[in-house]
Amino acid sequence: MKRIIIALALLAIGVATSATAQDAPRRHIYLNPDADIEERIEDALSRMTLDEKIAIIHAQSKFSSPGVPRLGIAEIWCTDGPHGIRPEVLWDEWEQAKWTNDSCIAFPALTCLAATWNRQASDLYGVSIGEEARFRDKDVLLGPGVNIYRTPLCGRNFEYMGEDPYLAAQMVVPYVKGVQRQGVAACVKHYALNNEELHRHTVDVELSDRALYEIYLPAFKAAVIEGGAWSIMGSYNKYDGTYACHNDRLINHILKGEWGFDGVVISDWGGTHSTIEAIRNGLDLEFGSWTDGLTEGASNAYDMYYMAQPYKRLIESGEVGTEELDDKVRRVLRLTFRTAMNPYKPYGAMCSEEHSAAARHIAEEGIVLLKNASNNLPIAADAKRILVVGENAIKMMTVGGGSSSLKVKYEVSPLDGLRNYYGDRAEIIYARGYVGDVTGDYNGVVTGQNLEDDRTSEELIAEAVELAKGADHVIFIGGLNKSETQDCEGADRTQYGLPYAQDEVIKALADETKHLTIVLVSGNAVAMPWLNDVESVVQAWYLGSESGNAIARVLSGEVNPSGKLPFTFGVKLEDYPSHSGKCTFPNPDKAVYYEDIFVGYRGFEEHNIKPLFAFGHGLSYTTFKYSNLRLSSDVFGKDETLQATLTVTNTGKRAGKEIVQLYIGDCESQQPRPKKELKDFAKIELQPGESKDVTFDISADKLCYYSSEVGGWVVEPGEFVLYVGASSADVRLTKRFELR
Ligand code: BGC
Repeated sequence: MKRIIIALALLAIGVATSATAQDAPRRHIYLNPDADIEERIEDALSRMTLDEKIAIIHAQSKFSSPGVPRLGIAEIWCTDGPHGIRPEVLWDEWEQAKWTNDSCIAFPALTCLAATWNRQASDLYGVSIGEEARFRDKDVLLGPGVNIYRTPLCGRNFEYMGEDPYLAAQMVVPYVKGVQRQGVAACVKHYALNNEELHRHTVDVELSDRALYEIYLPAFKAAVIEGGAWSIMGSYNKYDGTYACHNDRLINHILKGEWGFDGVVISDWGGTHSTIEAIRNGLDLEFGSWTDGLTEGASNAYDMYYMAQPYKRLIESGEVGTEELDDKVRRVLRLTFRTAMNPYKPYGAMCSEEHSAAARHIAEEGIVLLKNASNNLPIAADAKRILVVGENAIKMMTVGGGSSSLKVKYEVSPLDGLRNYYGDRAEIIYARGYVGDVTGDYNGVVTGQNLEDDRTSEELIAEAVELAKGADHVIFIGGLNKSETQDCEGADRTQYGLPYAQDEVIKALADETKHLTIVLVSGNAVAMPWLNDVESVVQAWYLGSESGNAIARVLSGEVNPSGKLPFTFGVKLEDYPSHSGKCTFPNPDKAVYYEDIFVGYRGFEEHNIKPLFAFGHGLSYTTFKYSNLRLSSDVFGKDETLQATLTVTNTGKRAGKEIVQLYIGDCESQQPRPKKELKDFAKIELQPGESKDVTFDISADKLCYYSSEVGGWVVEPGEFVLYVGASSADVRLTKRFELR
């Protein structure tokens, strides 16, 4: 009897075994997209060998990690980011792979997105770029970047969202959500304190906890907690003596501990420097560049990555256990199931009309009218002859600048945009004015433009001035570009002033004409010694594929400008707190000392320095009146919400959009506090003569500061001032209130 039972049992096992073999893929929980994601992770993890676990946490090529081929667990493919989808590169080189189907739509640079102050525009941006990433079968988009604009010399500011933590936090969240709705992970970068490029691989940032929490972390925190970001990129620099990519405090304590981040920490390319620190301090996925020659080997150099064979050897020798490894693998699997192995994600789209329209809309919302004397803009409707001067009117700007460089389906230059817009209605003539940087290639993507011009600057200026004589309007289009020491990764600017002697060209034109508009294409503030001599100045950022169309529509008045500055324009470099006193930049020594919380307008106001153009500044072709600020109560408790309402009226003759900004200042505090800080904003559209009420909710968390002593956020009861304005320097209404 016993034998029969055993035989039957064996038979049953046999049946079960053969059934398992036949149905295996279907029965594994990890392959079931409808099963609970955590159960899928545990199931997959339990089937993986040590080698497979090690393999999944580092790169197998420039932009991919291998997955687990034996188990059908997909590879993860990353792409830059953050303004469009980078062209395919060769497996183990930065050179483009020369595909013919990888051209993209370039969206405006993130400085422009921040300048829209429009949360819906950020969602549109995220959805559109996410669709392009998805169509190209990418799982992780390397962006957006939210490092704080600390110095106007930082070569990568154009990839970030300005100087204010609240604005950056508000603008990053919709972008992240929009991308991730496409089944593509946003990889928010560069976490943290990567605020300069020149010494990005060596600087060791020193700053107070207060500055860390109040200024440099809020945008990352919002991206993680509110945006639900699935990945984050560790930066190159050190913080408190340890590289950010494997920094215990930044990753284990703050990101994964305080914020509960369940995603993947990806190293910046070549940002890993120690196996043991990477193991213990929270790095999950290692990617590389040319560090230590690790990616240039003939055979599989990826095995030599810090999180590859060196990790395995430490496990085998018993020096480290597998607990950290399993945590990293779990996170990578979670990312894979959310993206590459998500069968429910949409299919995406590339270079669609909707994407072009989105790029143009964001560009138009972000262009900032800085100055407009005598209603010089919009260009008079009867203008018949318009002179355009300057290299940036013709130079392609989507190629260059570092890893954000793109291969675009098209890019409309400002000159072409103006010509397309005006057609036969006006003659658009062009003079070069100056010769800047005539190169135009990046990793094998070439603009194909021949910008060589051998004339002397005297000859170029003379030509421009001569042509200006008969012009109804002169538009100078200059600024910076994406070449090294301009707006470019890996190096910082070396001067605050405009390069290539552009100031001379502008001064010569200003002497000649009264209808002069200066359009600055840049991601950074510049000195403007000629400001009093020109009628109009427009900040036009790097606007991507639709650049020229957006600029033409704003200058002509087809679109009423509505962007506002996401960072302060100082008169001179020394006006920035990062360039005075101990906080010098760049720092010859390896440590860099930050100026505590007084960054951007907080610093300008603290030191009573008048900016050239204040944070939040931006004009319109119409005017707005602010009136009747009223509070729901003058006193409120910590658990209550106070409402501040005001009325905004369009007092001009055109429809327009206004960005109403709410700042709060603490009247008395135990700690030094900025005079005021941005706490909310609203972008509203008003027809001529129309009025609208805007209401802001104020809760106690808008009144706190971070106390390094307490190690947390503190709110002190007492009196506060509420400032409502059109910029940080243009306060229109104030009211006092009290927190009980
Ligand atoms: C940059 C990252 C980029 C990565 C991959 C690095 O050098 O700092 O922002 O995503 O390269 O191209």
